[in-house]
Amino acid sequence: PNIAIFASGTGSNFQAIAAHRNDLAAEIVLLVCDNPEAPVIAKAEKLGIPAFVFQPKSYANKEEYESEILRELKKKNVSWIFLAGYMRIVGPTLLNPYRGKIVNIHPSLLPSFPGKDAVGQALEAGVKWTGVTVHYIDEGVDTGPIIAQEPVPVLEEDTKEILQHRIQESEHQLYPRVINQLLLQSEG
Ligand code: GRF
Repeated sequence: PNIAIFASGTGSNFQAIAAHRNDLAAEIVLLVCDNPEAPVIAKAEKLGIPAFVFQPKSYANKEEYESEILRELKKKNVSWIFLAGYMRIVGPTLLNPYRGKIVNIHPSLLPSFPGKDAVGQALEAGVKWTGVTVHYIDEGVDTGPIIAQEPVPVLEEDTKEILQHRIQESEHQLYPRVINQLLLQSEG
């Protein structure tokens, strides 16, 4: 199957997934990016992965830019979407045709610390463990059915940067592995 990755920023998860290209049971045919300044675009270019880059403010509303994304996905026969630091809520235009085939990674053990700044929220709460969650997308913010989780310890002297780094290392291991499991399962 063909897969697309959606990202808005740095793209370290995009890179981690792309690094496993040769052992993935799928082809990464498209990066979708909503920020023309995002470093992830250069990463895709280097890897020879085509990118659809758009600016939400050049569209009247979400439905309009999501319709355009949908056309790009159809052109490339994309059957799975993996969000990797895509900082927008997916609307019905994309969600309905891809329900059960859109997956996200979130830097906490959901349902704890949904939404923005999950790492800061965990530090603030004083938890000793946080982690990473891979889950299906639904209408809510980080509320869809959980596929996989991995715990990450919070250490006494952690700053946000240090904890974030530890969480991302875990993401880079977990996400490619889970993506492959999903693809292999769905092949039946
Ligand atoms: C990741 O921590 C992911 O969990 C969150 O956004 C971050 C994206 O980082 N949704 P990157 O762009 O993959 O480096």
